[in-house]
Amino acid sequence: MASDVTSGARLIDGVALARELRAEVAADVAALHERGVTPGLTVVLVGDDAASAVYVGAKEKASREAGMAGDTIRLPASTTQNALLALVETLNGDPSVHGILVQMPLPAHIDPDAVITHIRPEKDVDGFHPVNVGKLLIGHTDGFAPCTPSGVQHMLARYGVETRGADCVVVGRSTIVGKPMAALMMQSGSGADSTVTVCHSRTRDLASHTRRADILIVAAGRARMITAGMVKPGAVVIDVGMNRIADASTRSGTRLAGDVDFDAVRKVASLITPVPGGVGPMTIAMLLRNTVRAAQRTLDA
Ligand code: GUN
Repeated sequence: MASDVTSGARLIDGVALARELRAEVAADVAALHERGVTPGLTVVLVGDDAASAVYVGAKEKASREAGMAGDTIRLPASTTQNALLALVETLNGDPSVHGILVQMPLPAHIDPDAVITHIRPEKDVDGFHPVNVGKLLIGHTDGFAPCTPSGVQHMLARYGVETRGADCVVVGRSTIVGKPMAALMMQSGSGADSTVTVCHSRTRDLASHTRRADILIVAAGRARMITAGMVKPGAVVIDVGMNRIADASTRSGTRLAGDVDFDAVRKVASLITPVPGGVGPMTIAMLLRNTVRAAQRTLDA
């Protein structure tokens, strides 16, 4: 791992790492084909949220490229909760579907918890079902961990970051990223064993915590909230933020920005993820890996 602080941080290349991971997944898929199984991922999109449509298209494309059966079911925003639960029920019972992902957010009249708890935990490749959340917290490895925090943990491992005994500060306490991220890093074992602090919108003196971090993971959803003065020299900084901000120099008038003030923080950190091209590509790669695992487990069961 590079730690030449004076020359600025080394970049973590999420695009290259995700490509590597997807090649590994494709090899696992090929091995499953030989055993007569094609891993199947079904993504359900309700409504016409533009950002969700882009994510869902990317998931379908990636699963097909890995040799999996990738299906997307698009439903109108007027779909009732009961109709969605009935669809989940059908997918639960379909042996060709190994992974089910219902894209969030759902329209306001549908309770996301009702939908998530309806998915069979063995097919919950998002890792959102309470059974999988519980397994993650206990440290059981036969469940599914959510894709974004798993991707972050994988990045740290591939870049040789020492996590054991490290002060790991997570900024953000969402169910999709912050909470599972903390749970992963506090487990005993390789790639974890960190001393974890979770900060959030009610944290007093955020900088006093972030400045102690050997590994700083930011998933707060506020553009460029982490400034250079909030980062310990030589820290590893992982930016999960994806914020659209105004930028008159681009054709669309906007661009993506992370939660970290990248240009300033990269001068202080030893290793840092860019946005885009950092954590984002890892999420889909981990989704494919979870789906392959779900398919493998049907053979091992
Ligand atoms: N919406 C944004 N990220 C995610 C994700 O990881 N899974 C699902 N199901 N919906 C999302």
